[in-house]
Amino acid sequence: MGKSIVKALDEVDLNIIKGELTALIGPSGSGKSTLLNVTGGLVKPTKGKAKIRNKDITNYSENDLCLFRRNNIGFIFQSFNLNPTLSALENVMMPLIYARVKQDKRKDMATHALKLVGLDDRKSHKPGELSGGQQQRVSIARAIVNNPEIVLCDEPTGNLDSETGKEILSLITKMNKENKVTFIIVTHDINVANNCDRIISIHDGKIIKDERK
Ligand SMILES: Nc1ncnc2c1ncn2[C@@H]1O[C@H](COP(=O)(O)OP(=O)(O)OP(=O)(O)O)[C@@H](O)[C@H]1O
Ligand SMILES: [Mg+2]
Repeated sequence: MGKSIVKALDEVDLNIIKGELTALIGPSGSGKSTLLNVTGGLVKPTKGKAKIRNKDITNYSENDLCLFRRNNIGFIFQSFNLNPTLSALENVMMPLIYARVKQDKRKDMATHALKLVGLDDRKSHKPGELSGGQQQRVSIARAIVNNPEIVLCDEPTGNLDSETGKEILSLITKMNKENKVTFIIVTHDINVANNCDRIISIHDGKIIKDERK
């Protein structure tokens, strides 16, 4: 930024194992979101590589990255990022529209995803008519509707009370165990981190601890 150089990530060398539930913890500004976004191809690193299935996604064009993300990666954000003018069902169908899935199939897939998160009775509700936990469940349904192998979560329980946070966590765990989805979860919540197979601690852009259960 201007004359000051921010090293958001510094000499990070990290291997994420397929099918694992990995937590990424560290203080504010330590580089957690940057690492998650580089991993998911939302941010290009100035140096270095991010490989998924041994393909370096940092070489991809913006268009190819878009396609790659659409077919392989789901994102869950702290602030849900739902479209307020669309119903729950329409929000979940959105990635399928971009993926050019046919209309009938789109509806079936989105209904199925909403069922998985326990919201099939709230399909026609708009985000403003849902509680915070329900909105986050809609965003989880949207993240998994296209059966991605990888789901990246940035503080998925950050805006929820602890009870609702636990529900979201058990949903994530279930998807990891039953569908072998690989999760990387940025979190400040110690309960979330302790529930993961591996906890990576980051400080000033460097990995300072990497523990496995
Ligand atoms: N687009 C950007 N341009 C320049 N610097 C940035 C940019 N995004 C983040 N940073 C800086 O990079 C560092 C890491 O930021 P990052 O958002 O990854 O932190 P974080 O660990 O996710 O923090 P938090 O817990 O507050 O969300 C910070 O010092 C931040 O100011
Ligand atoms: Mg962050």
